[in-house]
Amino acid sequence: MLTSVSATETALPPSDLRVPGPADLKAPASPKGAAPAAGVQTPQSGAARPAPASARATAQKPAPLPEPMWRSADGRARLFKGDCLEILERVPAESVDVIFADPPYFLSNGGTTCRAGKRTSVDKGTWDKSNGVEENHAFNHRWLSACQRALKPNGTMWVSGTGHVIYSVGYAMQQLGFKMLNEIVWEKPNPPPNLSCRYFTHATETLLWAAKSRKSRHVFNYDRMREMNDGKQMKTVWRLTAPGKQEKLLGRHPTQKPLALLERLLLASCPENSLVLDPFNGSGTTGVAAVTLGHSYMGIDLEQEYLDLTQARLLDAVPTLRERPALQVVR
Ligand SMILES: C[S@@+](CC[C@H](N)C(=O)[O-])C[C@H]1O[C@@H](n2cnc3c(N)ncnc32)[C@H](O)[C@@H]1O
Repeated sequence: MLTSVSATETALPPSDLRVPGPADLKAPASPKGAAPAAGVQTPQSGAARPAPASARATAQKPAPLPEPMWRSADGRARLFKGDCLEILERVPAESVDVIFADPPYFLSNGGTTCRAGKRTSVDKGTWDKSNGVEENHAFNHRWLSACQRALKPNGTMWVSGTGHVIYSVGYAMQQLGFKMLNEIVWEKPNPPPNLSCRYFTHATETLLWAAKSRKSRHVFNYDRMREMNDGKQMKTVWRLTAPGKQEKLLGRHPTQKPLALLERLLLASCPENSLVLDPFNGSGTTGVAAVTLGHSYMGIDLEQEYLDLTQARLLDAVPTLRERPALQVVR
């Protein structure tokens, strides 16, 4: 059963929706120097003055999507190479049912972690380096705003993160008027030990689930979740192991999410035949889960290597993606 929840059920009081101040709207230096996302005002754009009608009409017509780097033969899966700030602007407005985003956690700044029992430096890639608190927040505000534009009126989005990024994401979502639905704690039963012995062992990540706006009537597949939880209501603590070797047979990504996590959240929130989008595609876990569950998928990533890995994972998981759909004979 699909349950639509009324707009008032979990809405925040209006006082919790602060209008962003000038500091919030500061145009960040995009990692790739992209133009500001649609709807995000910059100091230069004149925050309080509405744009002339002609300019608004132009603004509502984004350039068409670029050619995907790869598309499945049936068109159900598409992978785009580039900066999500630029590509999201070209996704048709109000066209996406569910977005999952696993953005940079801004962790790769010379620290260390434990991998396979050994101390190793945290260096996931230049995309994961911090630009300072203000710029990181401005970046989060921009891509979240672009995602919000792409979501259907009742669409929802999930964002995963640790304390390094999740508070900024939650704050930006409140600034943008998303309707906060749930905060899921993903608990890892087998986390790597903390080698310094000066902190608790990090064993959780947070997932924020939010609807496009306070008016949204979001989908929650309540019965399916209860069924998966032995007939009891599914709680907001999900205990799931990190992806094992079996999920990395086709290649490695430094921050790959477990398939079971993506399957659960898509089962919970997707209407049938959804269009699912992931602006930080990585190894394509979201795509594999989405297409396996019968949905369509758009993934965006900066790195060719990760898009190649995604293509391989998708074709391995759903071999029919190689086939063109049979033509129907109309009599
Ligand atoms: C945290 S990882 C996502 C991992 C993914 N959830 C998985 O299961 O494999 C973030 C990904 O976003 C990509 N990325 C970072 N900044 C980006 C940007 N501005 N536009 C598009 N992709 C970006 C990185 O290359 C990286 O693969």
